[in-house]
Amino acid sequence: MEKLKNTNELETNKQLDFINILKSKYEDEYKKTGVRKTYYIQTFGCQMNSRDSEKISGILKRIGYVETDTEDADFVLYNTCTVRENANNRVYGRLGYVGRLKKSRPGMLVALCGCMMQESTAVEKIKASYPFVDIIFGTHNIFKLAELIKTRLDNEEIGTKHSDRMVIDLWKDTDMIVENLPNDRKYSFKAGVNIVFGCNNYCSYCIVPYVRGRERSRNLEDILEEVKALASEGVKEIMLLGQNVNSYGKNLDKPLTFAKLLEEIEKIEGIERIRFMTSHPKDLSQDLIDVMGRSKKICNHLHLPLQSGSTRLLKIMNRRYTKEAYLDLVERIKKAVPDISLTTDIIVGFPGETEEDFLETLDVVKRVGFDSAFTFLYSKRTGTPAANMDNQVDEKVAKDRFDRLLTAVQESSSKSLGRYENTVQDVLVEEVNSQDGSLLTGRLSNNMLVHFPGNQSLIGSIIPVYLKESKGFYYIGSQA
Ligand code: SAH
Ligand code: SF4
Ligand code: F3S
Repeated sequence: MEKLKNTNELETNKQLDFINILKSKYEDEYKKTGVRKTYYIQTFGCQMNSRDSEKISGILKRIGYVETDTEDADFVLYNTCTVRENANNRVYGRLGYVGRLKKSRPGMLVALCGCMMQESTAVEKIKASYPFVDIIFGTHNIFKLAELIKTRLDNEEIGTKHSDRMVIDLWKDTDMIVENLPNDRKYSFKAGVNIVFGCNNYCSYCIVPYVRGRERSRNLEDILEEVKALASEGVKEIMLLGQNVNSYGKNLDKPLTFAKLLEEIEKIEGIERIRFMTSHPKDLSQDLIDVMGRSKKICNHLHLPLQSGSTRLLKIMNRRYTKEAYLDLVERIKKAVPDISLTTDIIVGFPGETEEDFLETLDVVKRVGFDSAFTFLYSKRTGTPAANMDNQVDEKVAKDRFDRLLTAVQESSSKSLGRYENTVQDVLVEEVNSQDGSLLTGRLSNNMLVHFPGNQSLIGSIIPVYLKESKGFYYIGSQA
């Protein structure tokens, strides 16, 4: 049987045509009015969504829109997340606001995309309660944005109600990866690069596999071409993106490992730092640990979500590793990369979590010494197996555990965070400090922030900085 081709040049060309049609339409309007149309994007959720927003922004700029930083714009888009209930609530909050704004801006287009749109209940609610929305699309077809805008504009004459003109285009899943469309990268010196889309892991609490579809890896050649192009444009740091980067390459025609991909990227001249996100512990191979140990470019940081320290609970979460296997992995990583900074994600209040289970989590936190941890209260996601478990944890109990976990994380991280005090470290200078304009802000290889006095012209370069004082999650430094 012929394998599905997962990149699609025909689709790229078709979408470039739509972009060009809108571009000439908007250019004609600009000649008449002398005013460019503006767009505003608000991104919720993780790095996948941030990367998608760069692609969306690229398409809008190519059409002729100019970016603005408030919702008082001609095109407003919310790129949504649905990993926890509060992410959804924030979007409804913004929709209430933008609905009022739209009344005084008749030509305004409001669009919604991202993970929350892949859930039919959310879309039904929007259709019923926010009928002024113009375009809804999902996570699989962001490349179609120009086509969808054109369809919405063509719909202007249809029906009597605004909701009749709403364009909804949602795909459940796809094998198609559309390359080579416009792109508007947020930074000139660091860039996110998708390597795997979707997720096949079905952790029992998690909505992501349902909204991002099955796992698809990008072709090695496409990734290398993108990274080389970025390097030639002056990008120094790349972040390889996937829900589980460790399973990269398994579904390609010519299967390949993530470790091998890293070795290939390491060879690209100009790239000085390589990061990746996220690593599932069950798929983190010894090969990868060895590559991390040998590499000169892979950063000194590994984000390794634990979720829970209880083997019993990990099994019900469908994580497919035990507490012991996690601790063994950490030992092997620390041996290969002695100075590694480990960070993690932990959920408290998963259905059926007992005090004993929770104490196992605290035990792992103490033993590993994470530099930081994202801690989450379990949030019930309709459609996931955990949502139907009948032993949901009492809210008060979960909140109490959450507070105790936070204290444990702070205690453990405060021991290790200051370890670079009074040393000189390489820092990638990222921006002028948002609080104090005389300071620059940059990052160490281990992802920690450093603030130090310096000239803006240093932004984008990697320079040695003397770390004078640790302030917990950041250092105060001076140029070495
Ligand atoms: N693919 C990544 C995580 C993506 S979601 C991984 O496997 O590590 C980011 C984090 O959100 C997860 O690591 C998990 O800790 C948290 N999370 C996911 N679903 C959640 C839920 N239903 N309730 C609370 N936290 C959740
Ligand atoms: Fe969700 Fe698990 Fe996939 Fe991460 S690996 S995105 S937690 S299902
Ligand atoms: Fe949220 Fe989707 Fe990312 S649900 S965490 S934006 S993959």
